Amino acid sequence: MIVCSCAVISDAEIEAALVEILSLPDAPLPTPGVVYRRLQKKMVCCGCAPLAVSTIYQKIDDLAQRGLVCPYACASAQGRLLERARDTQVARLIESSHGCRTRRCSQATPAEAPSAT
Ligand code: FES
Repeated sequence: MIVCSCAVISDAEIEAALVEILSLPDAPLPTPGVVYRRLQKKMVCCGCAPLAVSTIYQKIDDLAQRGLVCPYACASAQGRLLERARDTQVARLIESSHGCRTRRCSQATPAEAPSAT
């Protein structure tokens, strides 16, 4: 599925970038800008930002469930993403598409999550 039509970025490319980003010792918050930069691409119109955040959030969950990335790093990243998007259209998109069915999705923060290192 194409997430960004301007830069032609697929969800599979986002997933691959997330594996690299979340495996870094001091993994940055995987915002769309960080993920796109990892892919050596840039946003143009930013129309994909809500979908990109939602896709990143869901892919982090998938990666944790498949054991491809440390689940603590994933929980921390999801909590930080949701906290950053709190009370915005992006947060509502994440919550409605993801369902936030687990407590860790909405409540994990870097301070609460154990270090991934
Ligand atoms: S659709 Fe992604 S920058 Fe335009």
